[in-house]
Amino acid sequence: MIQTAVLGYGNIGNGVVTVLESNKDVIAKKVGEQVHVKHILEIRDVKPEDPFADRVVKELDIIVNDPEVSIVVETMGGTKPAYEYVKKCLLAGKSVATSNKELVAKHGAELLAIASEKKVSFLFEASVGGGIPIIRPINNCITADRIQSVTGILNGTTNYMLTRMEREGADYDAVLKAAQELGYAERNPSADVDGFDACRKIAILTSLVFGKEVNSEEIYTEGITAISDVDMKYAKALGCTIKLLAMSYLKDGRVYAMVSPRLLSGVHPLSGVNEVMNGVYVHGEMTGDLMFYGAGAGKLPTASAVAADVVEAAMNPGRTMMKGWTSEKMELGDVLDTEQAFFFRVSAEDADTVKGLFGDKAMALDTVVSGETGFVTEVMKEREFNELTASIKDKVRSRIRMA
Ligand code: HSE
Repeated sequence: MIQTAVLGYGNIGNGVVTVLESNKDVIAKKVGEQVHVKHILEIRDVKPEDPFADRVVKELDIIVNDPEVSIVVETMGGTKPAYEYVKKCLLAGKSVATSNKELVAKHGAELLAIASEKKVSFLFEASVGGGIPIIRPINNCITADRIQSVTGILNGTTNYMLTRMEREGADYDAVLKAAQELGYAERNPSADVDGFDACRKIAILTSLVFGKEVNSEEIYTEGITAISDVDMKYAKALGCTIKLLAMSYLKDGRVYAMVSPRLLSGVHPLSGVNEVMNGVYVHGEMTGDLMFYGAGAGKLPTASAVAADVVEAAMNPGRTMMKGWTSEKMELGDVLDTEQAFFFRVSAEDADTVKGLFGDKAMALDTVVSGETGFVTEVMKEREFNELTASIKDKVRSRIRMA
């Protein structure tokens, strides 16, 4: 029998125990022996009627010092104390499976190196895209190809908000309130709406794809707070949708990474990723385009991805299954050097000034909203767009990059 322990018995931790227990027979068939949850670390009181209350312990050392436990699940969230706890478990020769994107984005390289040294695994399928298998395909499947780009809708909350704005013409504040009432958005929604959550996830994917450690704080990140119902009207007129895209790609030997809302053509596969769903679009030199779609959050989809990591570790004792990335720092390209077309709009009185500044580099759209004019530029460097609009910065009502 393989003994495991779970650190943190919140929503996801409870989900992992539920999946491991409910699917015991399926898992045993795959692994070749039973996988059992021996300990659950939780400092808060657990209801005595909880079916697993008798497995709850309050001290990490009970788990670290238990030679029977070979796999530990971390579902505490945050980095304090998760980082120290995970490190201790790995150093004690236990594999770790985590759903914690903050931990992986910040300490991934170090934890992967410890796992490798100890011949165990540090696995984090659930840290990006919830229940969508994306880490394992990148690590284990698309291994004979050079991946050139990864583009993802990696945040369910903002995708839900943008979908409602698009479908109902609702404004930003109304959809944020709805998302909060449904429990998708936190009372302080910043991590989602300002793009930080998507930023951590693309930092993990970028590190994994390009093999070096990306500092998430160096990724240009713009959230959806400036997107309005008026922008959605223009998107519709252009045959587009607006999505918060987290992307990274290789161009002329440099890796660029960015999170920003983008106008996406209605025929792009990611444009059909709606509501709280996530999607990841990968382009490989040989493979061409691949698309991964599914529930990016939620108790059971996320728990199922963590449980799959437990199965992977259980099937491969004494081996390091996740090679991940090295601790060598990735120098990202300057966002000002990225190239794309831009959509922007100004008041009707300022339209002639824009025409004078851009000449034939921007095309005025037919009127979508009376009293103002929308423009779409040719593909240009972000630096050039900023220079062209420098003198009318305050007059640009909104500016959205085009995918
Ligand atoms: N807040 C995140 C989202 C949860 O909305 O996608 C899953 O990481």
